[in-house]
Amino acid sequence: MAGVRLVGLTKRFREVIAVNNVNLEVKDREFLVLVGPSGCGKTTCLRMIAGLEEVTEGEIYIGDRLVNDVSPKDRDIAMVFQNYALYPHMSVYDNLAFGLRLRMLPPWWVRLLQRQQAREIAANIDRRVRETAHMLRLEELLHRKPKQLSGGQRQRVALGRAIVREPKVFLMDEPLSNLDAKLRVQTRAELIKLHRRLGITTIYVTHDQVEAMTMGDRIAVMRDGVIQQVDTPLGLYEHPRNRFVAEFIGSPQMNVLENVRVISQDGVPYLDAQAFRLKVPPRHREALAPYVNREVLFGIRPEDIYDRQLALIPATADNTVRAEVDVREPMGSTVILELLVGPYKLTASVDAASQAREAETMEVCFDLEKAHIFDPETEEAIV
Ligand SMILES: Nc1ncnc2c1ncn2[C@@H]1O[C@H](COP(=O)(O)OP(=O)(O)OP(=O)(O)O)[C@@H](O)[C@H]1O
Ligand SMILES: [Mg+2]
Repeated sequence: MAGVRLVGLTKRFREVIAVNNVNLEVKDREFLVLVGPSGCGKTTCLRMIAGLEEVTEGEIYIGDRLVNDVSPKDRDIAMVFQNYALYPHMSVYDNLAFGLRLRMLPPWWVRLLQRQQAREIAANIDRRVRETAHMLRLEELLHRKPKQLSGGQRQRVALGRAIVREPKVFLMDEPLSNLDAKLRVQTRAELIKLHRRLGITTIYVTHDQVEAMTMGDRIAVMRDGVIQQVDTPLGLYEHPRNRFVAEFIGSPQMNVLENVRVISQDGVPYLDAQAFRLKVPPRHREALAPYVNREVLFGIRPEDIYDRQLALIPATADNTVRAEVDVREPMGSTVILELLVGPYKLTASVDAASQAREAETMEVCFDLEKAHIFDPETEEAIV
């Protein structure tokens, strides 16, 4: 078992900086999710760790070993790719066993001379293949060829090929991207269980924040080659360091209102959004003091906006506004409302019992304890 440590890791493709000075410590047995939009450098990062891409600058450690100059096959890593390919002419069993045979079995003429030893190795390979097949529920399918499998079954075989190697570290690059929504959720749960059982350090790449939130012990959010924040799912959700992370994590995404002015009235700061005015809760006042008479970005998550009739927080003149309901989308246990308030469009996720109707007005209240406020220039979080 081993952790992975990246120090100042950088990759340049001519003028493109794909990965920019990444420092990241993945703990032994941890499941770390690397998430970010398309093109932000996730795959490049994994490929450098696997040894498939040369490092421009920086260091990669697996356990305590610096592996920059270690060849991919000696890094004790197994990678599952975005576009995996199974050997089409081989059965599931042979797909699983192929890599092990290549690695473990000596050439045929040595095998002839050392029959007993070769037999033991073959038995060991067989045991590992069958254990992996059992774990991934592939036992019934071992004799089939890839074209006789469903997409999800093929995906499991691809995972199996990595698992059967019993590596120190798993690198997974969007391994569920070819699955339909339902199978994705199922396989996701299976992967988590598998990780619990095997405890192998895993770096899992996705651009899907829901996947990141549900799977990661910790999540590293990446943008333009730069790690923005590394934290637990809840840590990222509650304390995003900047606007990018705030909007990236959470669904529906956080509302961020621009041109909101901080004003002071009788020594108390308010957020003045022209159409409405909100009183800043006491614990945020100190941080906002330097912003009085300046503009900020006001962030509020859809689930922190309540239908006043059903609010779980006390509604007051200082946290309640009148809004027009533009769109109403029932989701089952909640209703998503697209609201118009003055020049702003807001998304709210309210209790399904809400009587709000399209084209009517309603009162909503903000849970300001949960508000996020960002500096408009740096977009860093103030509170
Ligand atoms: N071999 C290459 N030559 C030149 N540029 C490359 C090469 N590989 C990747 N890039 C560039 O590096 C950046 C990062 O690419 P990368 O594949 O790591 O992104 P990603 O985060 O995995 O995206 P996706 O979610 O779409 O898979 C992109 O701008 C990409 O165009
Ligand atoms: Mg990629």
